Amino acid sequence: MKILVTGGAGFIGSNFVRYFLQQHPSASIINVDKLTYAGNLENLIDLEANPRYRFVRGDITDAAFVDSLAQEVEAIIHFAAETHVDRSIVSADAFVRTNVYGTYVLLEASRRYQHQRFVHISTDEVYGSRLEGFFKEEDPLSPTSPYSASKAGSDLLVSSYHKTYGLPAIITRCSNNFGPYQFPEKLIPLIITNALEDKPLPVYGDGLYVRDWLYVLDHCEAIDRIFHLGKPGEVYNIGGQGDKKNIEVVHLILEILKKPKSLIQYVKDRPGHDRRYAIDPNKIESELGWKPAYSFEKSLEETVHWYQTQMDWWKRIKSGEYLKMYEKIYGVPL
Ligand code: NAD
Ligand code: DAU
Repeated sequence: MKILVTGGAGFIGSNFVRYFLQQHPSASIINVDKLTYAGNLENLIDLEANPRYRFVRGDITDAAFVDSLAQEVEAIIHFAAETHVDRSIVSADAFVRTNVYGTYVLLEASRRYQHQRFVHISTDEVYGSRLEGFFKEEDPLSPTSPYSASKAGSDLLVSSYHKTYGLPAIITRCSNNFGPYQFPEKLIPLIITNALEDKPLPVYGDGLYVRDWLYVLDHCEAIDRIFHLGKPGEVYNIGGQGDKKNIEVVHLILEILKKPKSLIQYVKDRPGHDRRYAIDPNKIESELGWKPAYSFEKSLEETVHWYQTQMDWWKRIKSGEYLKMYEKIYGVPL
């Protein structure tokens, strides 16, 4: 089967492309990515010569461009998005464009070419925050940040295309991911890379905000299962019920790196900061037989090790070297 993956040069997308091609020797992938600041072709350098993989640079909001690729494939797995909550608070423009309008463009193309599957990668943030208990798939959406509101908007569009046109679309809502190739603006890679450089570790507010952390390869396996076995029109939560307070995560990273707690610096809180995300993964576990395979502590250690051994990768990003390299490759500034 030939699949169009959007946003495959980002963190989860690049892990997924590699995972999927390994798992399915007869599958081929076209990876379409705009290469925003978050997209990095270095993430998939090992696949450049793979005849089952093709990278095409482009924007999912460009309907003619998307159409030209959609006609070549039988399915779309849609990761491309603006993803960082703090950036959405500074400016929501690109979030609305890519996350809402870009998803609409893909849905139209998928409908036109009667694709067999449209898997929309969404997030647990669309449910909003709750102090106790766990959200189930049928709970109402109550997003709070411009990022999560744009993702909720895209979820509603996807389900409308299933209900109105019968598009075989499925929505996934995963909790916080971590692992190799995560852009060092997100909590775990930011803390690891700052600690490695003995820089201050910014902790928002009181540090007692709770997230459910899932290793990225567990997420990839869940998407693979949903792609093959999931029921069109359904939503699947993907989470490990591995709740941790932010400050606990920071302490664990410092322990692994043997760095002092004095690096921690409490800073101003994020506006509208969601206290706790928590989803119930019972549906995917009982209906599709998925369960997380990686323990949080062990995969956190492996992730820290990855950042220790891939200093060139993240130092280029953090120093802006990657931006210069991008200009050299594509001849235009980012
Ligand atoms: P990321 O920011 O690392 O990567 C996003 C990718 O999308 C980048 O390669 C970027 O260049 C590309 N992109 C952005 N705008 C584009 C456009 N207009 N056209 C084409 N490509 C474009 O994101 P991520 O953390 O890998 O997240 C991937 C998906 O998973 C997102 O939809 C996100 O909402 C969802 N998600 C992320 C997490 C998480 O913890 N990171 C958890 C749950 C769900
Ligand atoms: O829940 C899934 C979501 O997880 C995804 O949909 C988003 O794309 C992804 O960015 C992530 O959102 P969060 O806002 O939860 O992740 P982030 O890494 O930005 O922050 C995690 C927690 O850590 C949050 O409570 C804010 C806090 N934080 C974050 C940063 C970057 C800090 O205390 N200090 C920081 O420097």
